Amino acid sequence: MALLELDRLAIDLEVGRRPRRVVHDVSFPVSEGEAVGLVGESGAGKSMTSRAVIRLLPEGATIHGDIRMEGRSVPAMHREELREYRLRDVAMIFQDPRAHVNPVRRIGDFLTEALLERGDPQRLAVDRVTGLLERVGIHDPERRMRQYPHELSGGLLQRVMIAAALAIEPKLLLADEPTTALDVTTQSDVMVHLDAQRRERGLSMIFVTHDLELAIAVCDRVAVMYAGYLVEDSPASNLRTEALHPYTKGLLASRPNPSIRTERLAAIPGRPLSAFEVKEGCVFASRCAFTQERCLVERPLLRTFGTARVACHRAEELRSRADAGESTSVEEPVGGNG
Ligand SMILES: Nc1ncnc2c1ncn2[C@@H]1O[C@H](COP(=O)(O)OP(=O)(O)OP(=O)(O)O)[C@@H](O)[C@H]1O
Ligand SMILES: [Mg+2]
Repeated sequence: MALLELDRLAIDLEVGRRPRRVVHDVSFPVSEGEAVGLVGESGAGKSMTSRAVIRLLPEGATIHGDIRMEGRSVPAMHREELREYRLRDVAMIFQDPRAHVNPVRRIGDFLTEALLERGDPQRLAVDRVTGLLERVGIHDPERRMRQYPHELSGGLLQRVMIAAALAIEPKLLLADEPTTALDVTTQSDVMVHLDAQRRERGLSMIFVTHDLELAIAVCDRVAVMYAGYLVEDSPASNLRTEALHPYTKGLLASRPNPSIRTERLAAIPGRPLSAFEVKEGCVFASRCAFTQERCLVERPLLRTFGTARVACHRAEELRSRADAGESTSVEEPVGGNG
């Protein structure tokens, strides 16, 4: 049994008193010790999907379908059960650490808060978080614990957040763009610590990012979302060479590759859509180089394809063309527009 199971998850947010569906029919498992990347452009529904797992959705949001943690339904949890779940099973690391700490509380109090709340002895809590700060590369933990958030740089504070998440010894980490708000040199530093600690502890993780290459590097599997839908789900190891969905291929081609000199980025044309903007047919049809009649009228289901799943009517055809050596790169459409 998977540790976590998203089962036809759909999320409605309340916009002007009316429900607006921002996530549709998302299903995937997360096994014990497995890291799953959730990748896609802005508005794809990545944050809402990961937040649903810890029930931190905006006021008025409704969850449809189910999210099961070790068989227990998260949407059905009552107050006390939810509290225990958040103190023991699952921890979240956010994009902007400063928005998630109390500026007038010392780092040490912030770090031990959850442990004390669930009844761990003070001494044990302090020892554990001191050790954890060292593990994430903070050399003088005692001094840091007496400091306030404003005395720490963004990178240091994000490492404190990682330590806080690890402190409860969760089974699952949720990390939503944990390095995006940091400057580039600090980003890799924080990522290295997060990745190392997760692997060392055999933790499961849902890792949200725009950056498909980063997800491939730190995750076992990658789920690609577009406009609130899961469009591809594949083992990370073969995604670079065997991506099936034109959107995934577009994301791969959009990132600058320092080993290849190109004049421009092979970007995906147009802007990303949100779930409530898409019409009938494939959600990606308006930006896809391979769109045909059928793509405009019939929404493709997510289908199993070897070790991957993909929602594209033309997946088989595009794959066999690629296998035959024909270009199916996003830059050179193979006459798919009519
Ligand atoms: N509080 C809110 N009220 C109404 N709509 C919202 C709210 N938060 C997000 N949305 C909408 O829900 C959709 C999904 O948003 P979500 O934040 O999950 O996207 P995302 O994939 O995390 O994007 P990003 O990469 O920009 O963080 C978007 O269309 C967004 O505009
Ligand atoms: Mg987000």
